[in-house]
Amino acid sequence: MTEISHLKSGLLADIAAAETADAIEALRVGALGKSGVVTGLLKTLGAMTPEERQSKGPEIHDLREAVTDAIASRKAALEGAALEARLAAEWIDMTLPAEAVPQGSIHPVSQVMDELAEIFADLGFAVATGPEIEDDWHNFSALNIPETHPARAMHDTFYFPDKDGEGRDMLLRTHTSPVQIRTMMTTPAPIRIIAPGRVYRSDSDATHTPMFHQIEGLVIDKAIHMGHLKWTLETFLKAFFERDDIVLRLRPSYFPFTEPSAEVDVGFTWEKGKRVIGGHGDDDNGGWMEVLGSGMVHPKVITACGLDPAEWQGFAFGCGIDRLAMLKYGMEDLRAFFDGDLRWLKHYGFSALDVPTLSGGVGA
Ligand code: PHE
Repeated sequence: MTEISHLKSGLLADIAAAETADAIEALRVGALGKSGVVTGLLKTLGAMTPEERQSKGPEIHDLREAVTDAIASRKAALEGAALEARLAAEWIDMTLPAEAVPQGSIHPVSQVMDELAEIFADLGFAVATGPEIEDDWHNFSALNIPETHPARAMHDTFYFPDKDGEGRDMLLRTHTSPVQIRTMMTTPAPIRIIAPGRVYRSDSDATHTPMFHQIEGLVIDKAIHMGHLKWTLETFLKAFFERDDIVLRLRPSYFPFTEPSAEVDVGFTWEKGKRVIGGHGDDDNGGWMEVLGSGMVHPKVITACGLDPAEWQGFAFGCGIDRLAMLKYGMEDLRAFFDGDLRWLKHYGFSALDVPTLSGGVGA
């Protein structure tokens, strides 16, 4: 056995016995590195006579090739084994019930939005959305709130310092009503939509937060009247509170974008010192709670959206989602909705599997 073949069998045995990537790397450096044994042998070729080189050269090159190949295949084998071990260790049984896994909860606002979408889908309403960063035309002017109108000041609007490309003031929308405009301008009538989402007003106390949620409703069709509005709201509130004894009170009110306008109260009853929605508000142990604003869409608004008010009428309503959640699920302080306190979320949150359906009870 020549010295080289001896060296070769020794190196190949070491490589085959290596158990870790580090051991392989050490062997590689020792053989093929800058001052490795094989590299050293290759360097001796230069000083050989042509005859010597002819006899030794192939043997040395063969050594280098054999060692290189052995290292590569041992490395691949080790990596393959490591991957197999990892796959075996990190294996998950996807058929296990999801409750076995620790999980977060659905925020009551999201839950109520899903409940509302479910209730209104049953009445044939689609869900529409609009941007939270609005321009003053969609948020105010198109809704018959001109620049000098006191309602603009009433809304405590957050404005942006810069105007948009068309010279319009930019703001955080103060209500979901601009979605009425966006829908009427892009969707052919008849229209039946709800638009849930975030709205912003510079206001903060136990019942007001600078960001809160509203749901807008809009129906545009022919021969629509207040009776349709009242029936829709009654049907919606009965389904939402899951009670048949919901009584509504429509109070004349004013919104620039509806005429006539009505604020809607819902009757509640005192039960064991708590307000429970349901019953006639004028009863001895009852009262009225304001839940939404509504009215017949103002002809000027219909015109601003390019429709003929002689042909198309409709009603609209706007309602605070957080308020609805508080009334249904009994939270006291609105600010806690947005504190991100895990104890609150755990207490008032819903299971992700608890998808609201009408057949299962929207709030089950
Ligand atoms: N946008 C009104 C508000 O935020 C509510 C409303 C909507 C009233 C639609 C009438 C019709 O107060």
